[in-house]
Amino acid sequence: MKICMIGAGYVGLVSAACFTEFGWNVTCVDNDPKRLDELNAGRSPIYEPGLDDLIQRNMKAGRLIFTSDLGPAVKSADVVFLAVGTPMRRGDGYADLSYVFAAVDELAPHIDGFTVITTKSTVPVGTSRQIEDRLKQLRPDLETAVCSNPEFLREGSAIQDFTHPDRVLVGTDSEKARAVMEALYRPLALRGSPVMFVSRESAELAKYAANAFLALKISFINEISDLCEQVGADVQEVASAIGKDRRIGDKFLHPGPGYGGSCFPKDVSALVRTAREYKAPLSIIEQVDRVNHERKIAMAKRVEEAATGGLRGKTIAVLGVTFKPNTDDMRDAPSLVILPLLQERGATIRVFDPQGRKQAEPLLPGVVWCESSLETVKDADILVVITEWNEFRALDLNLVRAQMRGDALVDLRNVFQPATAREAGFRYASIGRA
Ligand code: NAD
Ligand code: UDX
Repeated sequence: MKICMIGAGYVGLVSAACFTEFGWNVTCVDNDPKRLDELNAGRSPIYEPGLDDLIQRNMKAGRLIFTSDLGPAVKSADVVFLAVGTPMRRGDGYADLSYVFAAVDELAPHIDGFTVITTKSTVPVGTSRQIEDRLKQLRPDLETAVCSNPEFLREGSAIQDFTHPDRVLVGTDSEKARAVMEALYRPLALRGSPVMFVSRESAELAKYAANAFLALKISFINEISDLCEQVGADVQEVASAIGKDRRIGDKFLHPGPGYGGSCFPKDVSALVRTAREYKAPLSIIEQVDRVNHERKIAMAKRVEEAATGGLRGKTIAVLGVTFKPNTDDMRDAPSLVILPLLQERGATIRVFDPQGRKQAEPLLPGVVWCESSLETVKDADILVVITEWNEFRALDLNLVRAQMRGDALVDLRNVFQPATAREAGFRYASIGRA
C-alpha cells in the first residue's frame, strides 16, 4: 500500500509514522521548509512522546519519506490523505478550509488512475462532497472517490490512540474506495479495532459531534465543581461516583481551567455555525462554548483572590502553560487568557513548562522564563499550576514553600492533595474541593 500524506503536523506526522509501522510506504508532503529540514534530519518538529523513535526507525527502513514535492507522491499513491490545518476562520468562527482546497488544487494534476482521496483533517459536513466536485471540474478524465476518515487521536497519547483506536471511521459511498480503505486499516481490524463504514456526511458530523460532546462533559464538570465549592462537596468524589455509571463513563470529567487545544475550541465553534446555517441550532453546545470562555477569566480571578492585598507588585510562579501535558502545543491554551489578565493587574509572572517554551515564548510577552520548577518558585508570592505535567506531582511541597516568599498555592488541576499542601504551610486553593 502506498500512501501520500499531505501535511506533516500533529495529525499528519503521527498518522504517517503509524501507517509505516503497519508496513505501508508513506510519503509525507509538507510545504514548510523548516519542518522538512528537521524531519529529514530525523527529528520531530513537534513534541509527541515516542514520535522521534518511530520516525527514525521507519525512515531508516525506507518506508517513510519527507518531501515538498507533491507530484511523484500523489502519482504513485493508492490513498492520498489531506491532513492540513482547518483552523477557526477569523471573524466568523467557521472552519477555514483554504488549506484544504489549496492542497486539492495542487494535487489534482498529479492523480494517475483510480486513487482514493480522503480527508483526515476535521472538515464541516459536506466538504468531502465539495472536494469531489472540485476534482471532477479539474480532472473530468478521472474516476474520483473522496472519502472522509476523521482522526480521533489526542495529543500527548497520539501514537497509542492511533494504533489502538476505539474505532476507525470511514465515510464513503464508493465500493472501490471502501475496498482500499479496508485493506489500509486491516492491521488494526485484525487487532480488534472496529472499522466502521458510514456515509460521508455521517463521518464528518460524527467527528464534530464527538468533540462537542467531550467539550460538554468538561464544561459540565467545571460547573459542577463550582457548585461543589459552595455546598461543601468534593468534585473528585462526585465525578468518580457518576463516572462509575457506565451510561456516563469516567473519562473527561476532570475539572480544570477550561478546555483548550487545537481541536475543541475551533470545532465547537464550527459546529455551532454549521448548525445555525442549517437552521438546527445546537443551543447546548453554544452554551458549552460560553461556559468555557468564562471559565478562563474566572480562573484569573481565582488567582487574584488568593493574593492578599491584590496583585500589584506580586510575583506569580506558573507551572505549565501548554493546553495539556505531554505536548508542546499552545493553540488556545487557557494560559493565553489567564496570564495576560494577571499581568494587566500588575503581577510579574515567572513560568516553567517542560516542553512548551519554544511555542509559548512569542505568545506570552513579558513573562520570565525559568528552567525548572524550583527556579520558578524562588521568591514568588503565589504558585499557580495551570497544566498537570507529571513532574509537578512529584514536587516536594516543603521545599517549594521554603523557596517562596508567599504562601498561596492555586492548583487549577488538583495535582496536589489538600492535606499535603496545608501541611507544607500553604494556603491552598484547588478546584471543586471545599
Ligand atoms: P498542524 O497545523 O499541526 O499541521 C498542518 C500541516 O500542514 C503543517 O505542517 C503545514 O505546513 C502543512 N500544510 C498546510 N498546507 C499544506 C499544503 N498545501 N501542502 C503541504 N503541506 C501543507 O495541524 P494538525 O493539528 O495536525 O491538524 C490537522 C487537521 O487534523 C485539522 O483539521 C485538525 O482539526 C485535525 N485534527 C487534529 C488533531 C490534533 O490533535 N491536533 C486531532 C484530530 C484531528
Ligand atoms: C481532542 C480530542 O480528545 C481528540 O479525540 C481529537 O481528535 C482532538 O481533540 P486533544 O485536544 O489532543 O484531543 O486533547 P484532550 O485530551 O481531548 O484535551 C483537550 C482539552 O480538554 C485540554 O485542554 C484538557 O486539559 C481539557 N480536559 C480534558 C479537561 O479539562 N478535562 C478533562 O477531563 C479532559
